[in-house]
Amino acid sequence: MAMNFSNPVNTQTWTNGRHKVRCVKVIQETADVRTFCFMSEQPVMFFFKPGQFVTLELEIEGEPIMRSYTISSSPSIPYSFSITVKRIPGGRVSNWLHDNLGVGEVLAVHGPVGNFNAIDYPADKPLMLSGGVGITPLMSMTRWFFDTNAAVDLQFVHSARTPHDIIYHRELAHMFSRLPEFTLHIVCEHDDKKGESWAGFRGYLTEPMLELMVPDFMEREIFCCGPETYMKAVRGILQKRGFDMSHYHEEHFDATPAAVREDVIELAEQAEVAAEAVDEADLREIAFASTDKRVSIQPNETVHAAAAKIGLHIPKACGMGICGTCRVGLKSGEVEMDHNGGITEEDIEAGYILSCCSRPKTDVVVDF
Ligand SMILES: Cc1cc2nc3c(=O)[nH]c(=O)nc-3n(C[C@H](O)[C@H](O)[C@H](O)COP(=O)(O)OP(=O)(O)OC[C@H]3O[C@@H](n4cnc5c(N)ncnc54)[C@H](O)[C@@H]3O)c2cc1C
Ligand code: FES
Repeated sequence: MAMNFSNPVNTQTWTNGRHKVRCVKVIQETADVRTFCFMSEQPVMFFFKPGQFVTLELEIEGEPIMRSYTISSSPSIPYSFSITVKRIPGGRVSNWLHDNLGVGEVLAVHGPVGNFNAIDYPADKPLMLSGGVGITPLMSMTRWFFDTNAAVDLQFVHSARTPHDIIYHRELAHMFSRLPEFTLHIVCEHDDKKGESWAGFRGYLTEPMLELMVPDFMEREIFCCGPETYMKAVRGILQKRGFDMSHYHEEHFDATPAAVREDVIELAEQAEVAAEAVDEADLREIAFASTDKRVSIQPNETVHAAAAKIGLHIPKACGMGICGTCRVGLKSGEVEMDHNGGITEEDIEAGYILSCCSRPKTDVVVDF
């Protein structure tokens, strides 16, 4: 079947889960940033909330490895979706993708998931603040607002190293030149080494700079994504000004966000304390319906750990409730789930759990 012969009337829509997709386009955005576009073998409408991400399931040198990437395209163009990846010096997956992923390659993705999105936090006056490749979720939201004629008064402030490092520069300029209610500001750290000079704002984003560019920033819903140092600086500016942080949303690209790391350490400590005190009677039975296997674990152990004990391999990437890779159906029983945005309310209502961060409150039966 010709894979890009799509019929808009009877095409299936994408739902959170594991999907095989084929790379159909590779775009060199800047010297170290590439966009990879994917389609499904069977035509699928890739609907998702702008800002959400997928987790790629790869095999590099014979080893399974997973990494999450924001969907940089917009669901307003749903026949394909894209991710935009920056090479990280010494990084395993980002460099592998740049060096090996070409048109025609097939891989599995998990998702879409993520709480950092324009649908769950609707706003009339959004302010996008991005640094470097952190632009990806904000670009998806902006493309969505643009394509759907959303009635938003949008201010977008992007920080790049040099003029040559501005990802999507031409497309941003095009979109923002067409709508008076969309305003774009670009800050470059310094001139290009090859000689291109930058006439706009220079250096790092500061409070006076933000005040000049977006005088009403205190009244806006803020979406921020970039390197940790950048987001820390933004939080510093906002907190100093007394900004109501319930209107501030951020996405972390680091493998292990600091807040999550603290939670994990705390959970591990709680688990250690609880492990000493556990009684046989407190053990919970985890049964796996598809394989008819079962195991008893302590209440502070996860469903994923229970599966591993009896040799069942539930796919897992982040291990901390961010990516959604380890999602399974809960057929019966109750769990305590400490996730970090890797599952939607709809999926929870439909009876799914993230096995890496779900601990049994009762005996449970899992669909795996
Ligand atoms: C929700 C989410 C969305 C993401 N979206 C994107 C995206 O749209 N585009 C994109 O390019 N990346 C994105 N990332 C980051 C991506 O998942 C990988 O972490 C990144 O590509 C590096 O992986 P690697 O295997 O190349 O590096 P690794 O081999 O894992 O790491 C190599 C070294 O780089 C450091 N490192 C790892 N990640 C980063 C980072 N992000 N910044 C600086 N140093 C780092 C590590 O500490 C280590 O020292 C996202 C991450 C998350 C959690
Ligand atoms: S492995 Fe990422 S949410 Fe469980």
